[in-house]
Amino acid sequence: MNLPPSKSKPVTVPDFLSARSRGTRLTVLTAYDYSFARLLDDAGVDAILVGDSLGMVIQGHSTALPVTLEEMIYHTRCVVRGTTRALVMTDLPFMTFQVGPTQALESAGRLVKEGGAHAVKLEGGVRTAEAIAAIVKADIPVVGHIGMTPQSVHRFGGFKVQRQEERLLADAKAVEQAGAFAVVVECVPTDLAEKITNSLSIPTIGIGAGPHCDGQVLVIQDMLGMYGDLRPKFVKRYIEGGSSIKEAVATYCREVREGKFPDLAQAFQ
Ligand code: KIV
Repeated sequence: MNLPPSKSKPVTVPDFLSARSRGTRLTVLTAYDYSFARLLDDAGVDAILVGDSLGMVIQGHSTALPVTLEEMIYHTRCVVRGTTRALVMTDLPFMTFQVGPTQALESAGRLVKEGGAHAVKLEGGVRTAEAIAAIVKADIPVVGHIGMTPQSVHRFGGFKVQRQEERLLADAKAVEQAGAFAVVVECVPTDLAEKITNSLSIPTIGIGAGPHCDGQVLVIQDMLGMYGDLRPKFVKRYIEGGSSIKEAVATYCREVREGKFPDLAQAFQ
């Protein structure tokens, strides 16, 4: 059973917290602009993540590290304008919370106040618990993010599956105890993700973490098959969007060149 799509009732933080007891799997997708936010919201997604993955899929960087807080605020504003039901959560980008709890709170406050985000997400477990607690204390809902945290890409030596059970269980607990209302678990073996889920009372949102999490999140460009050359193992493509768009653009170009577009149907008389 999913949260029912409804224009009148926005998805809330308490809806997330009660998802497990209601037997509801949570659906989350990324979006970075108004047009996609409208489509995802209309389709009934429970939450939209304005992820710092935009550094890669929108800006074309090889990591998310260059993304700034100003850019996250801008993209959050665009997404919020296209959303009537979904909860909008926004990533705190690299070096906007690592300095300490005060910096984290100031950054989170700007995402909510200037961007319109309903919640913020930040990477790290034990190491960021103090920052999470400071943000929660200001009544800003927080989602944690553990496992393969993309902002740690250089420490991990690449985007690699994380298998250290003791560390990941401790990270999950720290995030929960700091007051987060959900936690993203990224690129963790299925059994370990299930163990993490069972050890927590807040919902886990998996990406590359198997079917036992309380919800799932994917980068929208990945699940729409926008980039032919990018095929992470954990992604299911629900449409070959990249090929379809290229085909449509090529047809448009051909028709313009051949004088077939516009015809009388698209012309004013
Ligand atoms: O930035 C992002 O899109 C994310 C998801 C991959 C969970 O953090």
